[in-house]
Amino acid sequence: MSASDSSYVLVTGGTGFIGSHTVLELVTQGYNVVVADNMYNGCEEPLRRIEKLANLKDRIPLCKVDLTDKSSLREVFRQYSFSSVVHLAAVKAVGESVRKPLVYYRNNVTGTLNLLDVMVEFGVKNIVFSSSATVYKADPEGKPFREDSELGCTSPYGRTKLFMESIIQDVVNAEQGWNAIMLRFFNPAGAHESGTMGENPMQIPNNLMPYMSQVAIGKLEKLHVFGTDFNTRDGTGLRDYIHIMDLAEAHVAALKRLSANHGYEVFNIGSGSGQTVLEMIDAMSAACGKKIPYSEDPRRSGDIDTILCDPTKAAEVLGFKVSRSLEQMCADLWRWQTANPSGYGQ
Ligand code: WQD
Repeated sequence: MSASDSSYVLVTGGTGFIGSHTVLELVTQGYNVVVADNMYNGCEEPLRRIEKLANLKDRIPLCKVDLTDKSSLREVFRQYSFSSVVHLAAVKAVGESVRKPLVYYRNNVTGTLNLLDVMVEFGVKNIVFSSSATVYKADPEGKPFREDSELGCTSPYGRTKLFMESIIQDVVNAEQGWNAIMLRFFNPAGAHESGTMGENPMQIPNNLMPYMSQVAIGKLEKLHVFGTDFNTRDGTGLRDYIHIMDLAEAHVAALKRLSANHGYEVFNIGSGSGQTVLEMIDAMSAACGKKIPYSEDPRRSGDIDTILCDPTKAAEVLGFKVSRSLEQMCADLWRWQTANPSGYGQ
């Protein structure tokens, strides 16, 4: 899809952490965007910040829609002409998915089925889907995951992502002229460099980086390091962290690729280099200028030693490589956190 198209790009989940940064990158690159979001956190503020940052003269259209309600979703497609969809709406906490699997299957799978149904109905044939590295089977030697690495999910959340990939692939095979790109994200983190946009957890964060930044501003007492006996260079979990704005740029690269009509494709989106939890503590301590307090705790169930991305295919085919450093990630996160101690303030 080119930015010059007069039609719109629909971004589902466009007020969320990944969604809002992706919307910013899209409008900055000249795309006309409509956001569909269930607004579970009731917060339109990210869109106002985007409009300011991108000097938009008009507001970004926001449709308060739950994808599990097909009729209201159909109304959005009646109202706007879409060239493509960037599908980010989902619930995404691994631990919660184990406790509430039906919530995850209903939100993530039924919601995607409804979206695909309405896309077929209105002849919208292009989709970029936010998948996750969690679809891969843990590799005992911690080898970087390639797109053809063995799949194997250990949580209902991961299974919803894998089901949605397969469903989309089946639709591409059944329909004429569909193009779909699966982006398997590794660990998104950081914030926009302006300090006016960032992650806005509604409760105590599950993920390392938002939790650590709340410790750094004194909102939380200390970080609990989940496990120090992993098979990694310092015993703590190793992950592939990618700056949220790099991830946003990857979505635009994928959107452009859709117009080359390659049908169904999968790309890993990560940096290719990994950091352990202790290394992330050092990096965040350097960014905020104080030692982040932590305790060494037992492992979190389901955590694996290493999740590392092989970014070769995205570089060769999408022309995408990360461009922001770990230091930038931590500095941008700290700027957001200090300027917005209560997130978007709702
Ligand atoms: C990172 C590392 C933890 C919190 C998850 C989802 C994945 C994707 C990204 C959606 C691990 C350790 C964490 C804490 C800690 N989300 N940690 N103390 O688990 O790699 O991936 O988020 O697509 O699907 O599974 O990310 O940030 O939770 O953990 O020690 O308070 O930090 O053990 O080694 P994870 P994370």
